[in-house]
Amino acid sequence: MSVIDASIVLCEIECSRAVCITLLSMQAKTGAELEKALSLPHFAEMACDCISPAAWARLEGGAADEITLRWNLEAYRHIRLRPRVLVDVSQLDTRVTLFGQELPFPILLSPTGAQGFVHTDGDLGVARGAGAAEAILIISSSASMRVEEVVKAATATVWFQLYIQRDREFTRDLVQRAEAAGCRALCVSVDSPSHGARDREYRFKGQLPDRPLPNFQSKDYLDPTVTWKDIDWLQSFAKIPVLLKGIIDPDDADIAVQAGVSGIFVSNHGARNLDTVPATIDALPLVSARVQGRIPILVDGGIRRGTDIVKALALGATAVGIGRPYLHGLGVGGAAGVTRVLQILRREFELAMMLTGRPTIASIDRSVLWPT
Ligand SMILES: Cc1cc2nc3c(=O)[nH]c(=O)nc-3n(C[C@H](O)[C@H](O)[C@H](O)COP(=O)(O)O)c2cc1C
Repeated sequence: MSVIDASIVLCEIECSRAVCITLLSMQAKTGAELEKALSLPHFAEMACDCISPAAWARLEGGAADEITLRWNLEAYRHIRLRPRVLVDVSQLDTRVTLFGQELPFPILLSPTGAQGFVHTDGDLGVARGAGAAEAILIISSSASMRVEEVVKAATATVWFQLYIQRDREFTRDLVQRAEAAGCRALCVSVDSPSHGARDREYRFKGQLPDRPLPNFQSKDYLDPTVTWKDIDWLQSFAKIPVLLKGIIDPDDADIAVQAGVSGIFVSNHGARNLDTVPATIDALPLVSARVQGRIPILVDGGIRRGTDIVKALALGATAVGIGRPYLHGLGVGGAAGVTRVLQILRREFELAMMLTGRPTIASIDRSVLWPT
């Protein structure tokens, strides 16, 4: 067992000792305590003590043997950086533009359901926390609230994540509601004809209450009949940019470009669907080589450090998404915890830019990676 494997196993053991037995966050930290959190891994440790074991398994678990879950993290650790010295890094420019929208820094909140299991602030806390950090939130269609209510709590740009549901008219209506509410891009998750075998989560089956899913027509919301034709259909009426989330094969990326979508999100659903697929950071360069800059690429899965963002950008991403880390922030400190997680990651990214001698986003290219 590698040192990394051992530390992950240790973390799981530690978490199974979590003392909380209630369903929601019981030991939310005060502002002063939040200030002491040093890093995203530190937040994960703190969150483990604040979140019930059942909710922890739900948010932390992956599919089956969780091999891809480990790979998503490990793959970043194997990529080495190549810093340049004596570069003026006194002024950093971390801005990126996506679909005409300017982001102050290239970190988004990937869509996650189940936020209400982590903290009573739930979906609204995430929206407020993201807004305070000036980061784009992708509202999940499996949120426990109607998309309109979440948008109302947001103070920064929001996008909407869509599962194309069995009832296409319901789906069309949902898209139009999200547009009318002010969502500025549609992120269609295309990797989920079914949920994966989430064994860790299922061990706690029945221990979390049923929650409302008001953006779905029924509990049986995943439709295995969805194909590229549905993407054409969606684009025939969507007024906002359409991105496809969950692509890891370059051939699919090529079809997506030809289908006219506005962007691709390289994602393996946080390793929650199909186990033993590659880490997203290993898929990214292949996708990027095929897309050839025709449309922007985003990536998520395993981003925990500012240096991970430098690596993702060097390998072809315009921006990155995080999932579990902001849920850890939510569990530890509600909306303020979400903000703090984003601030820490942003600060680490800036530090990584300084220390690699790359003061602008454009200067982050393959040359920042040590040759393999
Ligand atoms: C608890 C949880 C719920 C999620 N729910 C959704 C969802 O509703 N829709 C979706 O497209 N992705 C969902 N995801 C996947 C995330 O959008 C994202 O791809 C993943 O969390 C990124 O990996 P990371 O957690 O290592 O940052 C979920 C992930 C987690 C951990």
